[in-house]
Amino acid sequence: MNAITNHMPTADLQALDAAHHMHPFTTGDEIAAKGARVITGADGVMLCDSEGNQILDAMAGLWCVNVGYGREELADVAARQMRELPYYNTFFMTTHVPVIALSQRIAELAPEGMNTVFYAGSGSEANDTNIRMVRTYWDMKGKPSKKVIISRHNAYHGSSVGSGSLGGMSGMHAQGGMPIPDIHHIGQPNWWAEGGDMNPEEFGLMRAQELEQAIEEMGIDRVAAFIAEPVQGAGGVIVPPSTYWPEIQRICDKYEILLIADEVICGFGRTGNWFGSTTMGIRPDIMTIAKGLSSGYQPIGGSIISDEIAGVINSGEFNHGYTYSGHPVASAVAMENLRILDEEGIVTRVREQTTPYLKQKWDTMLEHPLVGEANLVGMMGSLVLTPHKESRAAFKSDTGTVGFICRERCFANNLVMRHVGDRMIISPPLVINESEIDTLIERAWQSLDECHARLKAEGLMVAG
Ligand SMILES: Cc1ncc(COP(=O)(O)O)c(C=O)c1O
Repeated sequence: MNAITNHMPTADLQALDAAHHMHPFTTGDEIAAKGARVITGADGVMLCDSEGNQILDAMAGLWCVNVGYGREELADVAARQMRELPYYNTFFMTTHVPVIALSQRIAELAPEGMNTVFYAGSGSEANDTNIRMVRTYWDMKGKPSKKVIISRHNAYHGSSVGSGSLGGMSGMHAQGGMPIPDIHHIGQPNWWAEGGDMNPEEFGLMRAQELEQAIEEMGIDRVAAFIAEPVQGAGGVIVPPSTYWPEIQRICDKYEILLIADEVICGFGRTGNWFGSTTMGIRPDIMTIAKGLSSGYQPIGGSIISDEIAGVINSGEFNHGYTYSGHPVASAVAMENLRILDEEGIVTRVREQTTPYLKQKWDTMLEHPLVGEANLVGMMGSLVLTPHKESRAAFKSDTGTVGFICRERCFANNLVMRHVGDRMIISPPLVINESEIDTLIERAWQSLDECHARLKAEGLMVAG
């Protein structure tokens, strides 16, 4: 058996990858035909590939590398913890120091009245926990008929059967028998695509009130919880109108249904506060966490739970857990990551310096002929591509055709920017500095120009 190393020719690595590795959210035949991009290293906000390209990662991996790549401190902590206690579980009355320390720290950072964490290995697992947690909570409160969890179309809450059901991605629901029973979806607050003649505030209110209608229709004795991302991420960085969240909070309070804020992307500084719930002014009962908790250096997720829910669930046995719930190495790395975020003032810097700088640049993208809307909350942003700005028109070509072309141009210009349909999105490492932001904007502009030229040449600049 020959060792497979970074020094092998790219084509050989690609062929081996295509032969034996099935990729998430990828067409296997396409990867076999074109070959995957092979990432060989990373530092700060830059990735390096097997061809020696230096690529600006404006997605922080998958929205997770908040402290940037190449942090020796995190590698050191992981190595130390692996030597001391590489694994032990937290089932059946056992614990260990890394998970004790991390839980205490998360409770300090979390909003008041949220002092307990249940751990998982990922955001998907944590949302699966939430489904069982809220239903068990209502069971134990003597209201077993409260089972329905209301979510939103085009939400993303993970890829397992439970979390994928909570999500509202039709392409996912079409595969593998989802959604599971007792999950209900209402409309999303995507004004650009769905707001019609309403102004954003009217539309935000209308979409929030769909929650009230759904509760009234199903009956309050059936509804357990509402789940949402403070700012939709994978759906296309959709920033809700200002009227949306206050109305959702009012409805959750009125009907006493649990509010689950999925903070998997928004948490740990991405929106300029420790949690997106603070930025959006909401008071959740449960917060889903993952990604930025460890900056992606270790797989770890969890649910931060209100004292009320913890009190109820703790009065019995919660028959639920994962082998890696509260994994010691992941916990130690997460703890060190939180120290870095705090001691380097990264969250404050995002709020007070980096976001205003990026916003000023991001807004200039509106001058580009392809860009209809430029959204930014903290370090997550989107550009909506359109053939006709005034009418907020969509392209005549299949949704995503234009976004895909633009993303390919970004890759060619050494910029990782993702597309969701015909929206281009960014979520860079929180440590990105001003000159790196300038580079991001230059490469994005150049990619948009090249995309625009191709659309015109191919007759694709047409409204549908
Ligand atoms: C809001 C949200 N929730 C949950 C998840 C799922 O997390 P994971 O991929 O760690 O399972 C994601 C992943 O992108 C997410 O964006």
